Amino acid sequence: MKRRKVKVNFGNLLLVIFVSGLFAYGGFYVYKNFLSDDSSNSNSSIKDNNNVSKVNKKLKDLGYSNDDIKKIENNLSSDVIESLDVKYDDLADLSSVKFFHIENLDRYQNLCDNSSFSPEEVVMRVNTNIDREFYTDVKIVDDPDDPFVLVNKFYEVPQDYEPSDLVSVGNGQKMRSEAAEYVNKLLKDINADGLYLQAQSGFRSIDLQTRLYNNYVARDGVEEADTYSARPGSSEHHTGLAIDLSHDGSLEESFENTKQFEWLQKNAHRYGLILRYPKDKVYMTGYMYEPWHYRYVGIEVATLIKNEGITFEEYCVKYKGLF
Ligand code: DAL
Ligand code: ZN
Repeated sequence: MKRRKVKVNFGNLLLVIFVSGLFAYGGFYVYKNFLSDDSSNSNSSIKDNNNVSKVNKKLKDLGYSNDDIKKIENNLSSDVIESLDVKYDDLADLSSVKFFHIENLDRYQNLCDNSSFSPEEVVMRVNTNIDREFYTDVKIVDDPDDPFVLVNKFYEVPQDYEPSDLVSVGNGQKMRSEAAEYVNKLLKDINADGLYLQAQSGFRSIDLQTRLYNNYVARDGVEEADTYSARPGSSEHHTGLAIDLSHDGSLEESFENTKQFEWLQKNAHRYGLILRYPKDKVYMTGYMYEPWHYRYVGIEVATLIKNEGITFEEYCVKYKGLF
């Protein structure tokens, strides 16, 4: 028998080794990424399951019904649930409200217990602070120059604050430049429609507000003065973004019966202005109805606030995360 001579071709051999190496590496890669991933997935799902059963047990131990547990588990993270140490009767419904903040839970529950407000109303009231007495726990705003700054009976400007871009508005009043530009335009446009309106009071320093407020207190007493005049530091007039508009130099509720007010109702938002202290929101703003007091927030926000029929406080909760 003739022996066949096997000729070793080194090029082919190297190719075979290389291809086998690739296959081996591929196999290892698949093993590592799929099998081992699989096992870590199953580890994490075991962990998740442990968490679920842990929070479930926690909520059961606290005395929640199965329906409530479902809602609470859906609304809150396991960390938050694990941090609960007592049962909050309305937690399931409260935590379903969009602007719910766990930090306010005691206050939400307290208001639920002492009122017949819906969970939405409770969350809104607490987030705007009005479950508290006005002027309690007053905070100084972080950025008084923020064009959307909220200044009210819970948020005041720093004692030495004065905007740096005050310019003239109307005859002798001042507002921040962008606000002044729009208010000046409004005064011109309402005039062109045959109606007279004047800028009665724009920016007010804390000194001026102190004098005004003290005079009102001397005349009417604190309780009454607080219904129509801000304590120094808490007036929106300090921001340079507020303006009192008058048709005859007075600031009276009867302004709401004038053509000027009718015009403002229709058009103020087109100049970025909102009616800041509406008739039906006295409980929230803490001030009597002021048909003359407008706040500049820019056209977009003013239009949204008008369309939704909300106060600036409610806007801050819904769109700025206030709580
Ligand atoms: N009259 C408004 C509330 C003020 O004093 O700022
Ligand atoms: Zn005012």
